[in-house]
Amino acid sequence: MTDDPVMKFADKMSYTDYLGLDAVLTAQHPRTDQHDEMLFIVQHQVTELWMRLALHELDAARSAIAEDRLRPAFKMLTRVARIFEQMNAAWDVLRTMTPSEYTRYRDALGQSSGFQSWQYRLIEFTVGNRNEAMLGPHEHRPDIVEKLRAELARPSLYDTAIGCLARAGFDVPETASHPDDRVMTAWTEVYRDPETHWPLYELAEKLVDFEDYFRRWRFNHVTTVERVIGFKRGTGGTGGVSYLKRMLEIELFPELWHLRTNL
Ligand code: HEM
Repeated sequence: MTDDPVMKFADKMSYTDYLGLDAVLTAQHPRTDQHDEMLFIVQHQVTELWMRLALHELDAARSAIAEDRLRPAFKMLTRVARIFEQMNAAWDVLRTMTPSEYTRYRDALGQSSGFQSWQYRLIEFTVGNRNEAMLGPHEHRPDIVEKLRAELARPSLYDTAIGCLARAGFDVPETASHPDDRVMTAWTEVYRDPETHWPLYELAEKLVDFEDYFRRWRFNHVTTVERVIGFKRGTGGTGGVSYLKRMLEIELFPELWHLRTNL
């Protein structure tokens, strides 16, 4: 058998066409001639692409959970955790950039900052961490505000998981501010008797797994930021490391963490 690769694409769809690579690979626009600015741009863009896929999976996982189709949801949530693993590993590339190198082009960023990543906010909103103030930076972009508001109007991934508890007969509120006692009691029961409640137990562990990777992402971010800018203010206007350290306290699924103390 011989290889017979296709060599002519004048009238066929090629790899470049299918993947829209003309758009992707011409979207890097360094504002300076500093060597490391390309790394900074590509690193953010790659992360935004992984976030795009994470949102696709989280949304589908939520729909599956709402219909009690837990197995496909587990598969998708596992994929999301793996995506976050990639986003976590990516920090190793950015860490090769020193403060001396970053300072050479930092001014060119102006006020732009990951703080304005609407996909990051959409992930937070989707899983259940909903702070409307985060719509602020997007006011000048009604299309983005609409996406974020549409998400706020839907039950979050966590609310949807709690809906599963309700359908399984647990006494839990339809909407709650977390941590909530009844939700806590229900998940505790699940963890006390996994054999009886295996699908719910597995669902809870998939959520915890996702949050575990998300926490590592936040930790890697703040550590890299400290390594690169120390305690300077952020380009987005926050205190910088002090703000990011506060964000380490966020609990996406608080009851799932708190119940562990009682087992
Ligand atoms: C040298 C590299 C980096 C530095 C110095 C840095 C710095 C900062 C700082 C100081 C903040 C707080 C907001 C502000 O005042 O600007 C922030 C927020 C943020 N950054 Fe970065 N960052 C870096 C790399 C990245 C990368 C690669 C991503 C990937 C997309 C990213 C995504 C974010 C996100 C999503 C936030 C919002 C976090 C939140 O509100 O909880 N950052 N960054």
